[in-house]
Amino acid sequence: MTSKQPSIPEILQQIGGVPAIEAALESITELKVLVIGDAIIDEYRYVVPLSRPPKENCLCVHSKDREDFAGGVFATAATVANFCGQVTVCTWMGPDRNAERLVDRALPQNCVLKAKVGDWGTTYKKRYIDAFNRKLFEVYAWGEGSMTRKARDELDDHILAVLTSEKWDLVVINDFGHGFLADTTLARWELADLKYVAINTQTNSGNFGFNLISQYTDGQFVCIDEPEARLAASDQFGPIEKIAFKVLSPHENILITRGRLGCYAVGEVEGPFEYPAFVHSVVDTVGAGDAAFSVASPLAAVGTPLGLVAFIANAAGAVETQVVGHRRYLTPEVLMDFVRMMETTGDGIA
Ligand SMILES: Nc1ncnc2c1ncn2[C@@H]1O[C@H](COP(=O)(O)OP(=O)(O)O)[C@@H](O)[C@H]1O
Ligand SMILES: [Mg+2]
Repeated sequence: MTSKQPSIPEILQQIGGVPAIEAALESITELKVLVIGDAIIDEYRYVVPLSRPPKENCLCVHSKDREDFAGGVFATAATVANFCGQVTVCTWMGPDRNAERLVDRALPQNCVLKAKVGDWGTTYKKRYIDAFNRKLFEVYAWGEGSMTRKARDELDDHILAVLTSEKWDLVVINDFGHGFLADTTLARWELADLKYVAINTQTNSGNFGFNLISQYTDGQFVCIDEPEARLAASDQFGPIEKIAFKVLSPHENILITRGRLGCYAVGEVEGPFEYPAFVHSVVDTVGAGDAAFSVASPLAAVGTPLGLVAFIANAAGAVETQVVGHRRYLTPEVLMDFVRMMETTGDGIA
């Protein structure tokens, strides 16, 4: 016999209701945060499929429209900045005026960019999308060639200089595995000396299996998705409790986002907490995990109860699944509207 799962309003009550969420969001508004990670430009190309080329066996599409978004570390920094007092984003970008302008427009007023310009810092991810919002294929582009020892040292110097330039309430490491952070960088950090460190290591087509959370032997809070946690635990089929337990140490708290299965969180002293997904259908999952991470990290840094952190992060992820690419970055107002809607309707959107 299986026990009945609590409804979303019941879960909301368990974590203290809307007032607890409002108070938690209020408690992070003054934080001074450093966000470190890879520069990504997400390029969406909207196309309409044509008939098959008579002499080829391939897809042929008609180009309709385009949109470019500041993604990667910029999306995380912009979202954190919407929730916190002051944000600095530390990254590395290729020389590209268009990308610079795009990033400039995307980052809010309270977000300062400290980017080192190198030969091939920015990763471009071009996605071809049909009229039903389905992605047909993706093309990654980054600079070719390997980095010299000198260039690596200079990059590590830049990261270390920004890291040690101020006393941060929180350092957010948003590691997309595109080369900004290397083992030489990590070797020079004393993460243990920082006040609070939140880490996300992304698995994507360009780094599959090579960018795991196990590289980080410090840092209090980890937020990764289930496939990323499974890769780090070397366990494809085991129960989520076992995966989380394996990945948790040496950190204090871990939040594993699980796509349509919601999320799972556990800490050294709290949890586990398990929530279902708050939406039933999605528009675009790009940015969902980043939104969850961006909101969860400052909340965890001020000692918010883990069950509350996971609920708010799950709601942040849910809201972002309804947005194409990074057309806009999550704000506390949009998040609270969604939470209040769940409270009254008993359910998320769609
Ligand atoms: N298909 C989906 N259905 C419902 N909710 C989703 C879906 N995909 C993502 N979410 C929500 O967004 C959160 C983060 O998404 P997830 O896919 O786990 O992260 P990532 O984008 O890093 O892979 C999830 O915890 C969940 O709340
Ligand atoms: Mg992710």
